Amino acid sequence: MSQREDGEDYCVGIDLGTINTALAFMDGRGDLTVDKDPDGSMTVPTSVLFTDMGKIVGSKAETKARTEGYGNFLSGFKRQMGTKYTRTVMNSTYTPTEMSALVLRKMLLRFEENHGVMPTKAVLCVPGDYGIPERQATIQAGRIAGLEAIELINEPTAACIAYCKENKFRNGNIIIFDLGGGTFDASVVNVNNNRFKVLSNEGSRSLGGKDWNLHLANIIQRKVIDAYGMTQKEADRNMKMRQDIIVEARRVKELLTVRNRVTDTVDINGTPVTYTIRREEFEDATYELNMRLITMMMNALRSAGLREKDISRVVMTGGESQISAMMRYVDDALPTVRTDIFDPFTSMAKGAALYADAVFSDGDVIVEPVLSKTLGIKAGVDGNETIYNIVFRSTPLPMAPNALFRPKRDDQETLELEVYETKANPGTYYTSLPYGFMIRKFEIPLTGKIYRGRTKINVHFTVDLNGLVQMFVDCNGEVTEFDMSNGMTMLPTQIMQSKKKVMNIL
Ligand SMILES: Nc1ncnc2c1ncn2[C@@H]1O[C@H](COP(=O)(O)OP(=O)(O)OP(=O)(O)O)[C@@H](O)[C@H]1O
Ligand SMILES: [Mg+2]
Repeated sequence: MSQREDGEDYCVGIDLGTINTALAFMDGRGDLTVDKDPDGSMTVPTSVLFTDMGKIVGSKAETKARTEGYGNFLSGFKRQMGTKYTRTVMNSTYTPTEMSALVLRKMLLRFEENHGVMPTKAVLCVPGDYGIPERQATIQAGRIAGLEAIELINEPTAACIAYCKENKFRNGNIIIFDLGGGTFDASVVNVNNNRFKVLSNEGSRSLGGKDWNLHLANIIQRKVIDAYGMTQKEADRNMKMRQDIIVEARRVKELLTVRNRVTDTVDINGTPVTYTIRREEFEDATYELNMRLITMMMNALRSAGLREKDISRVVMTGGESQISAMMRYVDDALPTVRTDIFDPFTSMAKGAALYADAVFSDGDVIVEPVLSKTLGIKAGVDGNETIYNIVFRSTPLPMAPNALFRPKRDDQETLELEVYETKANPGTYYTSLPYGFMIRKFEIPLTGKIYRGRTKINVHFTVDLNGLVQMFVDCNGEVTEFDMSNGMTMLPTQIMQSKKKVMNIL
């Protein structure tokens, strides 16, 4: 049980989504509970509006932005986690980490209002496809928000835990098909009572509901332009119309899940314009997007080393998995496997809460994660370099891979080392540079006597259960530790500064 009688020991699970954020916890009686707003809503929109009064997070930010404009409005920043992207609003510059911290802070404050105590320990969900910089940024967002102990879990793994708990599923292989508003993951998980062993994950952090919205917005815009009698040039210049239609598209898409056609009216330059859209038109326009998901799901199955007959269930979760065509495509791809849609909006927060209860208290869930991206090092001579992959994605964590380098010259003073993440499959040892993402570049000082081609420079990595990496270089017996954090790790003073930015949340 997570909560002590003195109310001190709440640990929570938080799913920080691109569109919606949810928090779940084990209540004092050991029941899994999703924290709610006074109006009963369980998810908080991942949106922030800056006002003179303070920062508004959640649905009020969205409502107010709709009338007051989107100038000081932040959303969709999850896709930028771990990058150098920033946004300046009302003379303050925010990183995606700080934007995320604002939303996490809001969740913690809401919890405090509901239960009288602020949680300090949490499991945060991350897309299975997140690499090292994104995972690090998420942990930092948690720290800025005021959390002291943070562990990560992949969203699909968390959803799997919640599914198994609620459906009393104890043994077998499950494919989790998690399509949210911004990201997609297909994970294969082997379940054995309370043990959840991830076998593989395929995903994209730039494939989610937003992309379906854009495709639908294009169809709606076409219809509206025709009905209004506007030229394409006029339409391209009308930013407000585009913005309105994108907001409209999301609503229409959700309606098309339950209806075959939707007729609606949009206001264009003060004139009401009515259009009708059929579900088929939407499905045709997004066919390719849907097929990309199915391909990734089948690749995940293959990387797990399994076949259709080995799979007991496909569990579809995430709001966007409700699109009517989606289940049909999944069923077509795996016709003999039972497919369930499970708790699209809160499955991940619930699974994270169950895992939090295990890592911070006496719960019994065991998670065995895998490395999300292949790790490699740039090798070769000038102009002819490639990435040499050292350890492949889907390798069980934790682990400690090694690579051996030799100097190119006698008395060489430094070794230049560039560490990359790639999507290379196991067994593919070389990846060309443009297909990799450089995490960090090091100039490693070499110690002791260096002989060309003879001295061994041993590079050790350790990857922990959260997928975070440390690097140690051993040259002539002298071991140096290197920070792998892409320059994204924040010093305590920076955390303090960021903490100031997440105050005054309304
Ligand atoms: N009935 C519905 N039919 C189709 N799509 C829906 C429906 N309801 C919600 N959605 C879509 O689900 C998406 C939000 O899902 P969800 O809350 O799972 O995403 P998220 O967790 O915020 O994002 P992510 O996990 O990708 O970071 C939005 O794109 C929304 O339009
Ligand atoms: Mg999600």
